Amino acid sequence: RLLAVERRTEGAASGLRGFFRSVAREYPDLTATLVEVAAGAGPEEVAAAVVTELAATDREPVVLTGGGTRRALRLTPTDLGALAATGAGPAGDGVAEAEAAGLDRDAVVLLVGGARGITARFARTIASVSRCRIELMGRTPVPAGAEDPVTAGAADRDALRAAFLRSGMTSPAEVERRVSAVLAAREVRDTVEGLRALGSQVRYHCVDVLDTEAVHATVKDIHAEHGRLDGVVYAAGVIEDKLIAEKPVESFRRVFTTKVGGARAVLDAVGALPTGPRFAVLFGSIAGALGNRGQSDYAAANDALEELGRRWSTPERRGLTVHWGPWAAAETNGGMVTPELMRSYAARGIKLIDPEEGPLSLLRELAWGAPEVHATVYTASGW
Ligand SMILES: NC(=O)c1ccc[n+]([C@@H]2O[C@H](COP(=O)([O-])OP(=O)(O)OC[C@H]3O[C@@H](n4cnc5c(N)ncnc54)[C@H](OP(=O)(O)O)[C@@H]3O)[C@@H](O)[C@H]2O)c1
Repeated sequence: RLLAVERRTEGAASGLRGFFRSVAREYPDLTATLVEVAAGAGPEEVAAAVVTELAATDREPVVLTGGGTRRALRLTPTDLGALAATGAGPAGDGVAEAEAAGLDRDAVVLLVGGARGITARFARTIASVSRCRIELMGRTPVPAGAEDPVTAGAADRDALRAAFLRSGMTSPAEVERRVSAVLAAREVRDTVEGLRALGSQVRYHCVDVLDTEAVHATVKDIHAEHGRLDGVVYAAGVIEDKLIAEKPVESFRRVFTTKVGGARAVLDAVGALPTGPRFAVLFGSIAGALGNRGQSDYAAANDALEELGRRWSTPERRGLTVHWGPWAAAETNGGMVTPELMRSYAARGIKLIDPEEGPLSLLRELAWGAPEVHATVYTASGW
């Protein structure tokens, strides 16, 4: 039996819910529960909650207690509201949704982690339906000018490996690192060119979100450049999946901080602007909402995002965490779901989000979703 008590402190963003949901999946023989009590609960109330929990037999990973009650958290299907079913409707192409979300040619959207992966696909969708101005942030350096002739003719990972070996490189680790760097830079270039071709003004900022000062400076620069910032999408994240028993603390910290520390820095930075964005979408994961074996760090991080978004929200602006189920890897912007992972999902009967449909569903949520909803799960099937 593993039992932890957490005080529900406003804005704590500990991610413990996601962590406990993953513990429960990773250790099926253990009953692991996070018992949440009110911030001001006295010792007797805490003791009573623990005693109640020890007698419980329902194996809930997270329970909320208070006022003599105990309840578990459940996902609730929610409609997007009447407007979503009329006008452009659920099958719409996103134009009406973009308009309803305040995205037009003049609007400025910052997408952190948006030059690659599934967020680049979302960027393409908003560019194609609104031609809004787009600011992208990511770590990948993109050298100016044409690609080095050593690699320019090598189309894929295998060809790049061969090119580096031919050039005299001998360390396999160094070859892999360089190959990944070339592919990443190509992906960023493709995204920027693709967005421009769709009619958007685009800038890419090579910034590591762990560098809080650089994040603040970049956000300021974006606002100074355009005089406005209408929306933010925070999607930076890394995965280093490992069972808890084998997970180095450093690795846990990297995965957690990239999401939580980075999102906090960005939200603080945009919160300090004279005219800040109306929405901030944080890309979470179904692993945070339901837990996942081997992803305790990632689940904790995605869960913590919810609290950051909720705390950032006011009646004038919506912080929304979207916990995505796995997306199908498209030919470009494949993201974290590798072909190998796709096969493993298929074997488990898990369906994948269509890369065309995913961005449209987020646009619909921004357009028609209830402003008081701060966390949603979008998935193509169960987990
Ligand atoms: N793909 C899915 O099925 C799926 C499902 C659920 C949730 N998500 C979430 O969606 C988001 C995007 O995932 P993805 O699948 O598209 O993976 P991805 O291709 O690996 O994208 C991750 C993005 O984060 C950026 N990034 C990582 N660390 C950073 C840092 N320290 N500073 C700045 N940027 C950083 C990466 O750019 P650089 O490498 O250039 O820094 C990249 O643009 C993630 O938050 C992920 O948790 C994805």
